[in-house]
Amino acid sequence: MTILLVVGLSTAVSACSDDDSVNGESEAENNGEIDTGSNDETTDEIDAGSDVGSDADDDENGEAPDDVGDDTGDDYEGPTYYDDIEPMMRANCTSCHIPDDIAPFPLQTYEDVKTFAPASHITMVEGTMPPWPPDDECADFKDHRGISTAEVEIFEEWMDAGYPEGEPGEDAGALEPTSVDIDGEADRVLDWGFDYKPQPPGDDEIDDYRCFAVDPDIDEDKFVNLIHTRPDNAEVVHHMIAYIAPESSVDELEVLENEDDRPGYECFGGPRVSDALWLSAWAPGEVPTPFADGHGIRLEEGAKVVVQMHYNIVNDPEGTDRTEVDLYFVDEEEYPEPVELAIVPLPGTDLFIEAGDPEAEVVVEAPQLPIDVTVHGVFPHMHMLGTEIRISAETGDGDVCLIDVPRWDFDWQGFYMYEEPIELASPSQVTMTCVYDNSASNQAPGRTPQDVYWGDGTYDEMCLGVFVLELPPGAAELL
Ligand code: HEC
Repeated sequence: MTILLVVGLSTAVSACSDDDSVNGESEAENNGEIDTGSNDETTDEIDAGSDVGSDADDDENGEAPDDVGDDTGDDYEGPTYYDDIEPMMRANCTSCHIPDDIAPFPLQTYEDVKTFAPASHITMVEGTMPPWPPDDECADFKDHRGISTAEVEIFEEWMDAGYPEGEPGEDAGALEPTSVDIDGEADRVLDWGFDYKPQPPGDDEIDDYRCFAVDPDIDEDKFVNLIHTRPDNAEVVHHMIAYIAPESSVDELEVLENEDDRPGYECFGGPRVSDALWLSAWAPGEVPTPFADGHGIRLEEGAKVVVQMHYNIVNDPEGTDRTEVDLYFVDEEEYPEPVELAIVPLPGTDLFIEAGDPEAEVVVEAPQLPIDVTVHGVFPHMHMLGTEIRISAETGDGDVCLIDVPRWDFDWQGFYMYEEPIELASPSQVTMTCVYDNSASNQAPGRTPQDVYWGDGTYDEMCLGVFVLELPPGAAELL
């Protein structure tokens, strides 16, 4: 289904094969964030990658087979697939665009990339692929994804030259997913124990939010340093959020699990138990990132981990899933006194969005913090009407940008961990601004605009920032 859509897209692009019109169009649409028209941006990373290949293999390029239909002669010195484009795909695209992964088609071979080149070009120009919603001007995050202007230009040159293939190197075609580089074995593997068949609540619905409470089987408090979510069926798993449900919520969990006769319980938006704390979140393409050495989130003895799965059954209506979550604890022999991190939400619960408002703004101010706080990461969250979310802080040392997502996409969300933790000098005040489009043009199919309030439901909204904080001892009570 998605492939059909893509083919449609690429046809639309080839219809206006003139590059300028593609650029002009997207510049107008993307608020100038990505300026593919300009040549004056320097991008060192790219030059390194592309020059190496093409210089080294010029002679071989002379033998490029004519049957690829390109217009390159013996003296062609421009980009070729094997020298320039394959490395670019490997660096930016094939972590997801390989068979059986989350992207709808592979970009693994010459034929794949050629077929999807026009569509790929549009997504690169518009900045939607590789997906990376935050604005790079705001803050430096780990595991950054992004393709540079210079890379896009090389791709354009390659398209203009008629997709020259070039000569395969030794490991051509061996594109592998970016493997997850984790040392050692997980301390716990959270597994709810059976294949679950997602079942949306209504016949014409496609989403199922299901929670499974899993016992982490610990006999003393542990500090979780790394969480690695391993979706079993990428066709149906949309996202996952793991919560810590304290021992006091065990009775509530039992009631929830008995609500219907299927395993787990229905849970859009949250775990539905009191005092649950965030543990982690996973969204497509997420690379598991450990907290700093010796840092971790406390998992209390007696607590359960509630794994909230968001399934979308469009691609595999009959599919089942048994996602597992690996937990890695801080090694307490090496770090006898782990640094405790807390995952602290800032919810704008008195949110109101008027029916029809195309640009409703909700501003949430956190209480002023009288102590220094170190922020390790942030997870911004809204539902479907959200268009933009920004979080910043006024601190004793000046203003700090914490995250800015200028084009909110519900399908791409997760924790963003800072390259270097950010210190908020006291007194500090965090402000979060959420923007929503509640006009008729931005509604779910068949719906008309309604007044919208805070809530868990698909058609409710949220303006939520979730922070990974390192607090001085005793400071948690101040929040
Ligand atoms: C983190 C995973 C990921 C990476 C990296 C990624 N893609 Fe995608 N891509 C997806 C997913 C998932 C979709 C399906 C649509 C969606 O969910 O946004 C998609 C869809 C597409 C589409 C279809 C049009 C569309 O926007 O839906 C094109 C074309 C595309 N990707 C090209 C690329 C190219 C080119 C790169 C590298 C420059 C890339 N993608 C990198 C995950 C990824």
